Amino acid sequence: MKTKELEIVKSTALKNKPSKDQIPFGTTFTDHMFTMHWEEQKGWHEPKIGPYEPLTLDPAAMIFHYGQTVFEGLKAYRTEDNRILLFRPEKNVQRLNLSSERLSIPPVEEDVLLDYLQILIQLEQDWVPSTTGTSLYIRPFIIATEPNLAVGPSKSYTLMIILSPVGSYFPGGIEPVVINVEDQFTRAVKGGTGMAKTAGNYSSGYQAQASAKKKGNADVLWLDGVHKKYIEEVGSMNIFFKIKGEVVTPELNGSILKGITRMSIIELLNEWEIPFVERRISIDELYQAYEDGLVEEVFGTGTAAVISPVGELNWLGKKMVINNHQIGELSQKLYDTITGIQTGKVEDVFNWTV
Ligand code: COI
Repeated sequence: MKTKELEIVKSTALKNKPSKDQIPFGTTFTDHMFTMHWEEQKGWHEPKIGPYEPLTLDPAAMIFHYGQTVFEGLKAYRTEDNRILLFRPEKNVQRLNLSSERLSIPPVEEDVLLDYLQILIQLEQDWVPSTTGTSLYIRPFIIATEPNLAVGPSKSYTLMIILSPVGSYFPGGIEPVVINVEDQFTRAVKGGTGMAKTAGNYSSGYQAQASAKKKGNADVLWLDGVHKKYIEEVGSMNIFFKIKGEVVTPELNGSILKGITRMSIIELLNEWEIPFVERRISIDELYQAYEDGLVEEVFGTGTAAVISPVGELNWLGKKMVINNHQIGELSQKLYDTITGIQTGKVEDVFNWTV
């Protein structure tokens, strides 16, 4: 797999770019996409940037039957002086390989994939929006393509990268959300696929999310699958609590996704010398701390929203209102710092941007 083999075919029918920056997440796609294939004899081969177009796949392609697939999500941002920045893209490529290992998908050469990704972004640079809060969402993913109904790893794969301009996650400013603590369904268990970014981890949450929505909640807080006791994630994000001046996030235990925003927040908290700990935290402990008036802030973290404050938690009929449904001081500072670094407004002392 070498960058010099990359074939580039430009689209002859360029699309109109969205006129407004407030487009629903993940619904608009750029003119070009990246594709590359894998077979045992050839390894990853035929890297190509071509027009964005539908795929032709055999109905027996293994992705459709046993869900052998992984994905990533990252963003490109436009700075005020018109540069285009990626935020820690090497971490996404590393995690793609970690997810692939769990799903028995062959690894990619990380540096080479990063080069292809950057060439694609360069070609599509006019699609990176400029309004505050907007970005170009980048979705690399791999699917199993062998036509075969036998249960087992596919003998062929396709890796693609598609790009989608996205509006601000919070068009009206950051809004704390109402969350239901899920007491019936489980997202993942230790030893399962929770630490991998794979399709089934997301679709298996829809039923719980739908019932949470019916009860007036925006999403769910996931507890561990064994004891239904320890806090894991919120929706498709990692979660942080500020309790009596100390920030706590559940430790990575095999069922929690190693979020890149999570990692960046931990590095910022350490830099700012804010007391911080990664450890198991139970919902009972959180509720007790709430009763004692010690819960100061709760927020989810992910690529899509960066920081999503939690304003209310509903657990078995008990309601916890956090910080009077307002965004907390630390949540706001983390949001401003990370989005500032991403968009070149805050000095990138960590060298996170590319
Ligand atoms: C994120 O915000 O990091 C996510 O994983 C959400 C994405 C699956 C749309």
